[in-house]
Amino acid sequence: TKSQAWSALFSEPMSELVKRYTASVFFDQRLWLADITGSLAHAEMLAAQGIISADDFASIERGMAQIRAEIESGAFEWKLDLEDVHLNIEARLTQLVGDAGKRLHTGRSRNDQVATDVRLWLRDEIDIIGGLLNELQLALVEIAQQNVDVILPGFTHLQVAQPVSFGHHLLAYVEMFSRDAERFSDVRRRTNRLPLGSAALAGTTYPLDRARVARTLGMVNAAGEAELCQNSLDAVSDRDFAIEFSAAASLCMIHISRLSEELIIWMSQNFGFIKIADRFTTGSSIMPQKKNPDVPELARGKTGRVVGHLMGLITLMKGQPLAYNKDNQEDKEPLFDTVDTLKDTLRIFTEMIGGQLDPATGVKAGGITVNAQAMEQAALKGYATATDLADYLVKKGVPFRDAHETVAHAVKAATAHGVDLSELPLAVLQGFHASIEKDVFDCLSLRGSLNARNTLGGTAPAQVRAQILRHQTRLA
Ligand code: ARG
Repeated sequence: TKSQAWSALFSEPMSELVKRYTASVFFDQRLWLADITGSLAHAEMLAAQGIISADDFASIERGMAQIRAEIESGAFEWKLDLEDVHLNIEARLTQLVGDAGKRLHTGRSRNDQVATDVRLWLRDEIDIIGGLLNELQLALVEIAQQNVDVILPGFTHLQVAQPVSFGHHLLAYVEMFSRDAERFSDVRRRTNRLPLGSAALAGTTYPLDRARVARTLGMVNAAGEAELCQNSLDAVSDRDFAIEFSAAASLCMIHISRLSEELIIWMSQNFGFIKIADRFTTGSSIMPQKKNPDVPELARGKTGRVVGHLMGLITLMKGQPLAYNKDNQEDKEPLFDTVDTLKDTLRIFTEMIGGQLDPATGVKAGGITVNAQAMEQAALKGYATATDLADYLVKKGVPFRDAHETVAHAVKAATAHGVDLSELPLAVLQGFHASIEKDVFDCLSLRGSLNARNTLGGTAPAQVRAQILRHQTRLA
């Protein structure tokens, strides 16, 4: 079946090697639904404009319905000879409905066709990703709510710094994922614009109604106006929407990767802060005692792969003159793999963190288990309330820099005795500064330290509860 539209010009068949090298059908077939949807919108407009007959459009609709059923049932025969998803579907259409099928491509090129298909497909994937990000945030907010009063050693340089609410810590990730969601919806706006009507590169001689096609495909802005690519050369060759998406996906994976790193640390025996459900861990083939955090480790690893795809896509673009070049066919595998990896990762993290609701019993199983005592014990090491002692002195009138120095002496002495600041007798503390009184022990406690950080965005439980409320309202 040598049915390529340009074959009359060629004096010899394409070599098998070149055929395989240039074909994309075995990966771009996943665009089939977008391709059919785009073709139907185009054909409907051609008929409305009197460019093809109503009968032709009816035949195209009928043929496409059958093709759709064939693809869904797995009966459709994808042919390497037909190069890509577009030519495969068009050839089958012509086989099914004859001349009407041959009229479908009027006023269209594969260049504006593929650009439209990728945008339609990506737009729908962005919507799915938005939903998944919402669920992950809700899972994190739920665990945060259960752990507002659990005290975690907050780290800087991975050294104990100040005590924080574990709920507060988890909400930091909710902030990151909410920005990711914003970025995706911003990318969606620029993705949801119509290239069709640009034809190969220069526009077309037929009186196409591009706005009609855009409206049929839902490529409209918030005001309901058609969103059309405004320059035919740009429309067929631009892939920056895909690059932007890939950048947003990379950032999102980087956030997942940071969370993964923390989960892995928290799960290690030396920390013992949390456990994750067994089904997210794997054993070792040699060490019988092992339960390894494979899921967060793989997520951290897969981040490299998604960032790598971003590098691939931007490098793919950099040397391309206007307009369409075949280079652009290479946008698909990285884009598809980015979407697959991100969606799988978001789904698995939502379940690993929040657990899974059993619809039969209404009980949530799995999710992370928090060892509040281990966290609090760890926060007691490392003089996490040293800043609070300095702040205490400042409130007694001592300049902050002097207070800082005084506390450094106190920490040095406590370290020498192997005790916490709160374990030093009052008399010893008073030896460091005369203005220290009995009330100092309130500020030296972890809980006192937490409660004192009561500014917006701070870790005081009252602030954390307010943030949880805000997120719940926002995500509802
Ligand atoms: N499979 C091609 C792609 O993915 C479709 C466009 C081909 N256009 C062309 N003139 N060769 O980009």
